Amino acid sequence: MLILGIESSCDDMAAAVVRDGRYILSSVVSSQDAIHKKYGGIVPELASRRHLETVIPVVEEALEQAKATIDDIDAIGVTQGPGLVGSILIGLSFAKAVSYIKNIPFVGVNHIEAHPMAVFLEREVRGGRLEAKNIFPTSNLKPPTFPFITLVVSGGHTTLFKFKDFGSYEILGQTRDDAAGEAFDKVAKLLGLGYPGGAVIDRLAKNGDASAIEFTRPYISKDTLDFSFSGIKTAVLNYIKETGDRFKICPQMNDLAASFQEAVVDVLVDKAVSACKANNIDDMIVCGGVACNSRLRGKLYEKSKDNAINLFIPEPSLCSDNGAMVSALAYQFLKKGARGGLDMNAIPSMK
Ligand code: KG4
Ligand code: ZN
Repeated sequence: MLILGIESSCDDMAAAVVRDGRYILSSVVSSQDAIHKKYGGIVPELASRRHLETVIPVVEEALEQAKATIDDIDAIGVTQGPGLVGSILIGLSFAKAVSYIKNIPFVGVNHIEAHPMAVFLEREVRGGRLEAKNIFPTSNLKPPTFPFITLVVSGGHTTLFKFKDFGSYEILGQTRDDAAGEAFDKVAKLLGLGYPGGAVIDRLAKNGDASAIEFTRPYISKDTLDFSFSGIKTAVLNYIKETGDRFKICPQMNDLAASFQEAVVDVLVDKAVSACKANNIDDMIVCGGVACNSRLRGKLYEKSKDNAINLFIPEPSLCSDNGAMVSALAYQFLKKGARGGLDMNAIPSMK
């Protein structure tokens, strides 16, 4: 079964063609970073206008890379929420239109539920050989089994889940203020590093001393799986005010980036491992854009090994938003007979 997956819930327009919910034939992402950079964050109206221009070329590119035409597609999966309403509307309306014209089913999926599906994906390479690209560092390439713990850590979410089945989960903890990626982006803005700033902080931190500045690790000693990151951001702001412009000089900038990153990583790793222990679960998926962070990946690996946890982190291109994760989840729902309705309710309510 070939599924076209479309993701347009935020500022990326993404499309992918995935066979049987598992084998990626193509995955194309059109980023809008250049458009939103000068505003220091996403401008929803600009995001949806750009999606309108890119949806068709991105889908065409995904089909071409998969050496398929729209007539080869058996079904469509599309993000239906949560996200920016105007952005979702473009992908969802497109999916409904193609579903109607081509008489193929579509199913709307929850963006957050789709993120962890990235670890079940593999790339289908020329000649039919399958190349597993997901990182299963502590698990000998055995896929995760239900129930597993999932940490979705991105620009919009920092949430710990216990997944009992595809699309069936319990929320164990979530951020009470900023998402971790939002904190990375806001701190990058304070440091004059541009938007989005997570990857830049990651790069600078590699040459910095993470113990140079002691930032408080919020909630780390508290008996909760919730997170809070706005305090670290304010602590960075206060540090900048105290030191004046001196932080901009190398190596101070690198030390500041590394110390901030270490505080965020410590909290994420501690809460994720605590969630596994508290629930007596040893399979854990960590996904979302911040899961690209090299220090987070390294520390998760260390702590997972220490605590006999099987850690699953997708390759970086599948950590951030993509259409393949949407195809993979849609496949699970389509298999059970789920079908989206071509009603006038533009965006049906999501849980
Ligand atoms: O999952 P994603 O692509 O979109 C959302 O659903 O939000 O995540 C984007 C977020 C941004 O905040 C970006 O700064 C962050 O992921 N990010 C990183 C890194 N790469 C991307 N944060 C820390 N380190 C990175 N290497
Ligand atoms: Zn996302």
